[in-house]
Amino acid sequence: MTPISRPAPRAARSQPLKPLRGQLITPGDKSVSHRALILGALANGTTRISGLLESDDVLATAEAVSRLGASVVQTGPGNWTVTGRGGRFRSPDTPLDFGNSGTGVRLMMGAVAGAGASAHFIGDSSLSSRPMGRVTEPLMQMGADITANGGRLPVQLNASILNAIDYRPPVASAQVKSAILLAALGASGETIVREDHATRDHTETMLKLFGAGLTVEPEGGARIIRLGGPQGLTACDVDVPGDPSSAAFATIAALIIPGSDLTLSRVMTNPARTGLYEALGRMGADLSFTPAGQASGEHIADLRVRASQLSAIDLEADIAPSMIDEYPVLAVACAFAKGTSRLRGLAELRAKESDRLAATCAMLTANGATARIDGDDLVITGGVVPGGGEVITRGDHRMAMSALVLGMAARGGAAVDDITMIATSYPAFMDDMSALGARLEVGQ
Ligand code: S3P
Repeated sequence: MTPISRPAPRAARSQPLKPLRGQLITPGDKSVSHRALILGALANGTTRISGLLESDDVLATAEAVSRLGASVVQTGPGNWTVTGRGGRFRSPDTPLDFGNSGTGVRLMMGAVAGAGASAHFIGDSSLSSRPMGRVTEPLMQMGADITANGGRLPVQLNASILNAIDYRPPVASAQVKSAILLAALGASGETIVREDHATRDHTETMLKLFGAGLTVEPEGGARIIRLGGPQGLTACDVDVPGDPSSAAFATIAALIIPGSDLTLSRVMTNPARTGLYEALGRMGADLSFTPAGQASGEHIADLRVRASQLSAIDLEADIAPSMIDEYPVLAVACAFAKGTSRLRGLAELRAKESDRLAATCAMLTANGATARIDGDDLVITGGVVPGGGEVITRGDHRMAMSALVLGMAARGGAAVDDITMIATSYPAFMDDMSALGARLEVGQ
């Protein structure tokens, strides 16, 4: 199989124009979308998914599970069915290409190991530079037969018998936890994952939805998860909630563009994902959440955002797992806030789609904002942001969207070298922001 082809880069710029106003239907959550496809592919029976995020990352997972023998059918926009394999995958004879997706490749390594199949895992240049040892090591402790390239892709996984482990991940990572739990479905004995810092718990919630037996025991800010294997899953209906990480871009744009007033519908309010909104509240943001029920075990709410004068924040490292993908855009908010902010404990940002700690600092300084890295902290002095800079997005979707948000409020706007990778997580970003009143220009 040839690697997922990437389109030629397309530059874009944003400029301040007028307040953002209106209502946005928040795109489906990326984490929940991956998990719905994977658990559907492992289950017995046909799972119906509504509101699936049809982004490049999620579509790579859909392609992978169909190559592993699940039947994956799109029945309408956002509506998909997955007929599962009852816990056993077929071994594909060509590599599984996960493109840019860390979630896809890491969760699927666990799922494939537990489902008794062999596969070769590859990805794009960004994904191939990211650490995979954090997943392959615990899987090998369970008995997985894995050859990795110095802890990086490509990874070859050969079918083998798995046994349970008792594991304390050395990094706070929902991807690592999820890979182990998915493998544990096919392992003998009780697997225990001990998280020092609780990370997003969508895998645990969705496993229960699919009828799995597992227990989750809080231990202060930590969690102990126990899952006995082998055990099967039963197909169910999954309604994907709105993605708080995607909603973050319109939220911050509305906060920093004077006069803005937006409503974002169906935003997931799982506390393991809403650290950004808590931080913004502490900075003086005018946010109001109106509960809108639940979607597949996750609470959702309609979020109203009104432009606000923000003040600086000293943000503790402990909150990082609940807002790990939101730091680049939070940093934009800090650049417009009054005073000096310190965002602490951001070492994990170096292991994302790009080195997001360096990239975020560079995005701000390229636009005349005052920012520096101090150890693992990012220090930003807010005020008027001149803008006018060009941001090198390093193939990182969240950097591209954050830079465009910055340009919507900075005097001289901002330019990015490439927006094509935005399709990995938020394909409708440019259209959605334009519909709310943003001024965006795309180059050829
Ligand atoms: C994700 C977990 C996070 C996050 C990623 C999605 C998930 O990664 O950055 O975008 O769906 O489990 P880590 O768990 O590795 O921090």
